[in-house]
Amino acid sequence: MIKKIKNICCIGAGYVGGPTMSVIASQCPEIKVTVVDINKSRIDAWNNEDLSKLPVYEPGLAEVVLGARNKNLFFSTDVESAIIEADMIFISVNTPTKTYGIGKGMAADLKYIELCARQIAEVATTDKIIVEKSTLPVRTAEALKKILDNTNNNVNFDILSNPEFLAEGTAIDDLLNADRVLIGGEESERGNMATQSLVDIYAHWLPKERILTTNVWSSELSKLTANAFLAQRVSSINALSELCEVTEANVDEVARAIGSDSRIGSKFLKASVGFGGSCFQKDILNLVYISKTYGLEAVANYWEQIIIINDHQKRRFAEKIVKTLFNTVSGKKITILGWAFKKDTNDTRESAAIYVADYLLNEQAEITVYDPKVTKEQILADLDYLNTRSENENRDLVTVVNDPIKACEDTHAIAILTEWDVFKDYDWQNIYTKVYKPAFIFDGRRLLDKEMIEKLGFEYFRIGN
Ligand code: UDX
Ligand code: UDX
Repeated sequence: MIKKIKNICCIGAGYVGGPTMSVIASQCPEIKVTVVDINKSRIDAWNNEDLSKLPVYEPGLAEVVLGARNKNLFFSTDVESAIIEADMIFISVNTPTKTYGIGKGMAADLKYIELCARQIAEVATTDKIIVEKSTLPVRTAEALKKILDNTNNNVNFDILSNPEFLAEGTAIDDLLNADRVLIGGEESERGNMATQSLVDIYAHWLPKERILTTNVWSSELSKLTANAFLAQRVSSINALSELCEVTEANVDEVARAIGSDSRIGSKFLKASVGFGGSCFQKDILNLVYISKTYGLEAVANYWEQIIIINDHQKRRFAEKIVKTLFNTVSGKKITILGWAFKKDTNDTRESAAIYVADYLLNEQAEITVYDPKVTKEQILADLDYLNTRSENENRDLVTVVNDPIKACEDTHAIAILTEWDVFKDYDWQNIYTKVYKPAFIFDGRRLLDKEMIEKLGFEYFRIGN
């Protein structure tokens, strides 16, 4: 019999778990959804009366949380109770790239996933459907099953893979109007029933034809592949942006020309200072690692090239700044507008800004940063994490301000690293009067109107022409 899910638990209240569960709760009022996390301050933030204090900034999220919170949506640190109560458990904990041992710098670190599985195995007293939400290497479900099945309490576990395709900044819309939802399950009677239980949840708001079901391994691999293909498009256009710069072609025109071929499509062809975010690099590294594990060197090298181009793009942008500023930025103030890895999010993981800033700091620049959503603590933590210099040095060389105009005062160059819409509307004429001349702008997002900016007197460089 297909299990009618009444009680969901999600372990991990991060960028994925929080918004996804909020949407499920809002669309399925008869299901109780509890999101748990070991991080108490994160849970407190999810429970904050003041919705501007939610730990994740996503357009539309606050309204969804407000509608369901403390009705059928709960945030808690009591992981055990939530596991015991649930008939379906989503695992949405982070799976960072390993920083040690075998697979260092490439393989996903699955220690949190394993901890979750062990905890579930230990406390569960009734059958559970376990849903992998975190992005995982192919065949992780197998490991999960091994851990879960080796318990003594006669509990059955069915494992599903249900990868996330939401993009930050548009998460709520991506969830409510998903192109597709992917559910991978075991090909058996039990597996099919578990799959159907999850299909029924999404069918509350999505048409049936958008809910795809596959076997577990296809589902796990599809997630990595989707991100690899998306990242590949960005690296492809970024590789071309460099060619455009030396040939006087315009990368946006090239993107438009190729994008109107329906076989190619127009999305994800925006040249930039390089992709960031918690997923692209990590997932490609996973793909590379898995390929290597199976001895497929050519396959591994093929996918790795996407990351090589991305690193190159960040580096050459920073180099361009140094070269243009007469080969030295030592002691010069450089203003960075935008620290998040893309607009409309406060997430900075793997943001190109971190690497550009680090490069400029190595050249002894003094950096001032303004981002509408990212805190000073986060910016400094991102730089500290790289371990390139001491924490004190980072604090000496980096200033974070709350006022964009102030950020630009007496600066030698402005670098735009996130495509925040508000940047376009600044009073650039006024800014021009406040900066050192020649007044340089390096636009890593092709955000500003070239003609307008140059008319004001700026020396304007942008990626891709
Ligand atoms: C998710 C997925 O898990 C990741 O694999 C995918 O590629 C990107 O999205 P995300 O939600 O962005 O990660 O991660 P994060 O914001 O770091 O949230 C994970 C949460 O899990 C954290 O709040 C952390 O405290 C929590 N956690 C981690 C637990 O509650 N228990 C653990 O054992 C480990
Ligand atoms: C991505 C996937 O899109 C999503 O489906 C998956 O679930 C998680 O990973 P996300 O990382 O949140 O989502 O953002 P995305 O919009 O994909 O952007 C990733 C990076 O690529 C950003 O730094 C963005 O600025 C950059 N990018 C994207 C470009 O430089 N050019 C483009 O044309 C598109």
